[in-house]
Amino acid sequence: MKHSPWGRDGLYPTVRMRRYRKSEAIRDLVAETEVRPDDLIYPIFVREDGKTHEIPSMPGQRYHSVETAVETVRELLDLGLRAFILFGIPREKDPEGRVAADPEGIVQRTVRALKEEYGDDIVVVTDVCLCQYTTHGHCGLVDEDTGKVLNDPTLEVLAEVALSHAEAGADIVAPSDMMDGRVKVIREALESEGFDDVLIMSYAAKYHSAFYGPFRDAADSAPEFGDRSTYQMDPRCFRQAIRELELDAEEGADILMIKPAMPYLDVVREARRRFDHPIAAYQVSGEYAMIKAAAEAGYVDYRTAVLESLTCIKRAGADLILTYFAPEVVRWLKS
Ligand code: PBG
Repeated sequence: MKHSPWGRDGLYPTVRMRRYRKSEAIRDLVAETEVRPDDLIYPIFVREDGKTHEIPSMPGQRYHSVETAVETVRELLDLGLRAFILFGIPREKDPEGRVAADPEGIVQRTVRALKEEYGDDIVVVTDVCLCQYTTHGHCGLVDEDTGKVLNDPTLEVLAEVALSHAEAGADIVAPSDMMDGRVKVIREALESEGFDDVLIMSYAAKYHSAFYGPFRDAADSAPEFGDRSTYQMDPRCFRQAIRELELDAEEGADILMIKPAMPYLDVVREARRRFDHPIAAYQVSGEYAMIKAAAEAGYVDYRTAVLESLTCIKRAGADLILTYFAPEVVRWLKS
């Protein structure tokens, strides 16, 4: 007591938060948040030309052919990773991105191969968008004279794309285009064709973010002119995100996604508070690249930083996380 300024006259802290931190066992006992393999969705890039090299803008990630995608999923499934989101890189593009709805397209073929091999042991999510498939690289149809991205004519194409994914066997379709009304149109198309058990995970609050840079290089989907600011959300806006989430919920989305994750945890938190839907957060390519690069430079410890980033996304309120770190994380969690 002699050395404690608090010890005299009953002046001591009655609440000592450090008690909770006394040992690892106690810290684990009172821990509130856990990252589980079941919460993670791993993005897989499949190329129609079958090339499988490392993705230059995303060190540690590689392209897949249908065959290597099937092999990789087997390895990951053995480790307990069960959910995957597919991005296709087609050989040919066209102005309307029609090739995205081709039943023999790269995504559709990969979905069929995965479902044939693993059935309901895995969850196959497909990204529904046009930007990898359009010659101009926008997520919707473009008016040739004005260069405007046209909302309503795009909806019909998106519905066809989603349908073609459902026909191939996708469990979840994930529209990432940010056109108004697409969830409703996709829901109606799925219902009318008998795919009433296909979930829609909408990229509901998808921001116009610099953190998609590495992905756009990887997927060859950067817009040829202009940018995506007329459809993706302005980073300065929070209330608009709530309206986007509300609209997608009303239109029939089953899972609501916020993207990117780390700079937008306020939105994740508020989505958790307001909705009873599962909430997903996409830790995007730039977030991945940032941590990778910092770790490589020796500025942060890789494993600690990755696990901290995912834990904090969960703590903010995400049930699911789409992340490029998923394979490493399930390995770490296992050991
Ligand atoms: C397609 C799409 C993008 C991402 C996912 N789906 C790119 C974009 O909108 O520009 C980004 C994913 C990432 O950066 O990891 N619209």
